[in-house]
Amino acid sequence: MKKKVLAALLSVAMVATLLAGCGSKEAPAEAPAETEAPAETEAPADAEEPAEAEAPAEAAGDFADKKVGVCIYQFSDNFMTLFRTELESYLISLGFSKDNITIQDGQNDQGTQTNQIDAFINDKVDVLIINPVNSSSAETITDKVVGAGIPLVYINREPDASEEQRWADNNWDVTYVGCDARQSGTMQGEMIVDLGLETVDMNGDGKVQYIMIEGDPENVDAKYRTEFSVKALTDAGWEVEQLDDQVGNWDQVKAQELVANALGQHGDKIEVVFCNNDAMALGALQAIDTAGRKVGEDIFLVGVDALSEALENVINGTMTGTVFNDHISQSHSAADAAVNYLTGAGNEHYIGCDYVKVTTENAQEVLDSVK
Ligand code: BGC
Repeated sequence: MKKKVLAALLSVAMVATLLAGCGSKEAPAEAPAETEAPAETEAPADAEEPAEAEAPAEAAGDFADKKVGVCIYQFSDNFMTLFRTELESYLISLGFSKDNITIQDGQNDQGTQTNQIDAFINDKVDVLIINPVNSSSAETITDKVVGAGIPLVYINREPDASEEQRWADNNWDVTYVGCDARQSGTMQGEMIVDLGLETVDMNGDGKVQYIMIEGDPENVDAKYRTEFSVKALTDAGWEVEQLDDQVGNWDQVKAQELVANALGQHGDKIEVVFCNNDAMALGALQAIDTAGRKVGEDIFLVGVDALSEALENVINGTMTGTVFNDHISQSHSAADAAVNYLTGAGNEHYIGCDYVKVTTENAQEVLDSVK
């Protein structure tokens, strides 16, 4: 299990973000007005150990006979691999038995995942943790899981507001654990703005030319990161021009192809490459290298997640920045929420967590904390 050393690695400004954000809260209706310290959130009782503010009192061992079913949308996703690995080890540290934790690969197919959920219900698991393939299937999933009397923790792919409202209206044991993707998009844009228009607008035409590489468009993370990264530039008064916007489905190889095409088509005009996640940013970087361009010198590149490889790139200047998508805090909150259902303590219907900006200044600290 990874240590929760997040507070230690943050700069003063970032501690403010952390203090403001981790812990249960209602889903904000609007993007946080100020991403450093979003409004509408409350400081957790114990800011140094955010995930544990929710941790149940039960001694380790009490859950050894409880069966946990976990559905992951796709095992080959880099970020979800970090998430599920940490989730399993943290559940074990809480006293669950490894033999009673079953994690299934949905293979990015809702039909496959639905069959896995049916099998978990037949097997009478005590709690389900689900990263849906399609967030739009949440209503059907909720109905069958609640119908079977099993508490449900959604992770990473947020169902829509009307679905979350049903959980509250019916007082169901259903919650969502995740971060507000608007915040990560805003942070990506702010890292570009912080460089200054004169630096970013290399061709000096008074506007910033960019390309956008999106994750799965069904996913609210992709939608919001796309929108809010650019909004941070226009909010700063910058003029922008989108040269290309393509769907890379969170995938490195696909993103490499897309960015190679865009560079071939638009060449030196491209000043910024926004990628909705780091896997795609790593693909973008391969294309940038092949095209003979240099990040920080003649192009800028940002991602989201803080994968180790991306952090190394930020440290050596081959990526402009990334945003830490805290898989440690999120997986711990998900496990804690599962425990809270098992003990009868219950949960809010939305459990949030803040993102953290990562630049050369703190990339090494973030890397040390996730290793
Ligand atoms: C992560 C992506 C990941 C996606 C999966 C996002 O929050 O940033 O890397 O592919 O979740 O749903």
